[in-house]
Amino acid sequence: MEKKDRLSQISERQKRIEQNLSRIKHKIAVLSGKGGVGKTTVAVNIAVALAEEGFEVGLADLDIHGPNVARMLGLRDEPFMKNGLIQPPKFLNNLKVLSMAMLLNDGQPVVWRGPLKHTIIQQFLGDADWGDLDFLIFDLPPGTGDEALSLFQIVKLDGTLIVTTPQRVAIDDVLRAINFVHEMGQSVIGFAMNMSYLICPNCKTRINPFGEKTTGELIDLTGVECLGEIPMDPAIASYSDAGKPVVSYMRGSEAEKSFRNIVAGILSKIGG
Ligand SMILES: Nc1ncnc2c1ncn2[C@@H]1O[C@H](COP(=O)(O)OP(=O)(O)OP(=O)(O)O)[C@@H](O)[C@H]1O
Ligand SMILES: [Mg+2]
Repeated sequence: MEKKDRLSQISERQKRIEQNLSRIKHKIAVLSGKGGVGKTTVAVNIAVALAEEGFEVGLADLDIHGPNVARMLGLRDEPFMKNGLIQPPKFLNNLKVLSMAMLLNDGQPVVWRGPLKHTIIQQFLGDADWGDLDFLIFDLPPGTGDEALSLFQIVKLDGTLIVTTPQRVAIDDVLRAINFVHEMGQSVIGFAMNMSYLICPNCKTRINPFGEKTTGELIDLTGVECLGEIPMDPAIASYSDAGKPVVSYMRGSEAEKSFRNIVAGILSKIGG
């Protein structure tokens, strides 16, 4: 391809991204320093909770190597093309979801370096039919690598929700994540403390398996607000594995309440 054709293709895509993003009121990234702390669980549940509140919502799974969003929503549909645009499958009528997992065979790995991942993120933004949305939630892979870098370069977000667990090692990495967000010229909405406590199934006592003080310490250290503490509960894992989001399937539970608190915190910070 001629250089000028390549350049015009890039500027066409840029234009499409800008047009698409202009139709989305609020864009929120879910990030963590450490892996496996519950980002996808939080991203999925806040997206479903927002949709249940009547908002038009999109959920973009930007974890290219380990896309888990579709499994946690039990979505097996493949996106199809219409009018030259990728149609994200729907979990609810007002919740569109797009994930690399929908484009891969089960177990198929993605062996890509940064530039290719940047291109797929551009395609998720510019070539997908998100339509008019109140919220687009981005689930990111752990840490501050290519995907987060690409997203933060392309999109001016309303803010980033940081997910962490209370262990000291996770907190060390949270500080890196928060500094990364600020260095990229973006803002932090707050953090969600996952696996913060558990309720003993026998005596119903509240136990803090990773210590009690971390939430307060993290607030003091960073000035970032805690939007919710999510209990550690084996049911959260089994419902997620079964594709049943906790906010809809564990109604009345502490877990549901904690996700709804996080959503209330987001709405009060950035408005609905
Ligand atoms: N509060 C919780 N109680 C029990 N299990 C949980 C809780 N939060 C998350 N899990 C489980 O822990 C595992 C990791 O969660 P999840 O995939 O959401 O983390 P992640 O931060 O997105 O991971 P990755 O860094 O790989 O993207 C999942 O099996 C999930 O169901
Ligand atoms: Mg994840």
